[in-house]
Amino acid sequence: MLVNAAEMLKKARAGQYAIGQFNINNLEWTKAVLLTAQELKSPVILGVSEGAGKYMGGFKTVAAMVAAMDEDLKISVPVALHLDHGSYDGCVACIEAGFTSVMFDGSHDPFDVNLAKTREIVALAHKRGLSVEAEVGSIGGEEDGVIGAGEIADADECRQLAETGIDFLAAGIGNIHGVYPDNWKGLDFEALEAISKSTGGIPLVLHGGTGIPEDMIKKSIGLGVSKINVNTECQLVFAAATRKYIEEGKDLQGKGFDPRKLLAPGTEAIKQTVREKTALFGGGNKA
Ligand code: 13P
Repeated sequence: MLVNAAEMLKKARAGQYAIGQFNINNLEWTKAVLLTAQELKSPVILGVSEGAGKYMGGFKTVAAMVAAMDEDLKISVPVALHLDHGSYDGCVACIEAGFTSVMFDGSHDPFDVNLAKTREIVALAHKRGLSVEAEVGSIGGEEDGVIGAGEIADADECRQLAETGIDFLAAGIGNIHGVYPDNWKGLDFEALEAISKSTGGIPLVLHGGTGIPEDMIKKSIGLGVSKINVNTECQLVFAAATRKYIEEGKDLQGKGFDPRKLLAPGTEAIKQTVREKTALFGGGNKA
């Protein structure tokens, strides 16, 4: 059932658990996440970056595929189709294309510009029933081979962004996209607590879910994190399972080259990751 993400995240915040956002890259990814969410009776968010949207043919293709698959597979749990780290134009395109939720990432703009553009996106999206995520304090990660540390968001800027009427807020607390470097300092819980206090109970989003230790995940949920984004981990397990299949020569046996066989172990691996993350986040049986 396609819905926006506002309600499921409000409930998660009140119930002290988190909903997983799993980024999708293709049909297999989408099917794996939807079927597993249904199996676990868990609400779920499908994340689509602008790059992944382009890869799949465009936002309209993605929206049509997800809506049709949701219906064909009789998915009854709440599913949000969410633009991840969207530009202003990307948000507008996804609102038009039939997404149910958008993230406007103005974290690289001067704060007053971020605030003004976020306000505009909120007005456009809410008019059409979509939920909105905004970001302050950029999430670190690898860019052109340089690993940037995650920025720590300022609690007062978080308050101002929350007051624009957004539905949930991504605030940098030292989190990073991709695999964490060995010298990573961990999440800044003092900052998270201050942000939680200044933002009036709005659900908070933790990006960079891959590789954050379980105790830190649980502690962050206790401090208001209600949505956790996972991308790299699904890519890693998909690649490892596909590699194993080919290295064992299974593509050379019978019709093992058939993409429905070749991509099956990777798809199963994604399902298993979604199961493990959903159990850790506490999102099962919450649909
Ligand atoms: P990871 O790739 O580190 O799991 O981060 C995902 C994410 O935050 C997407 O916005």
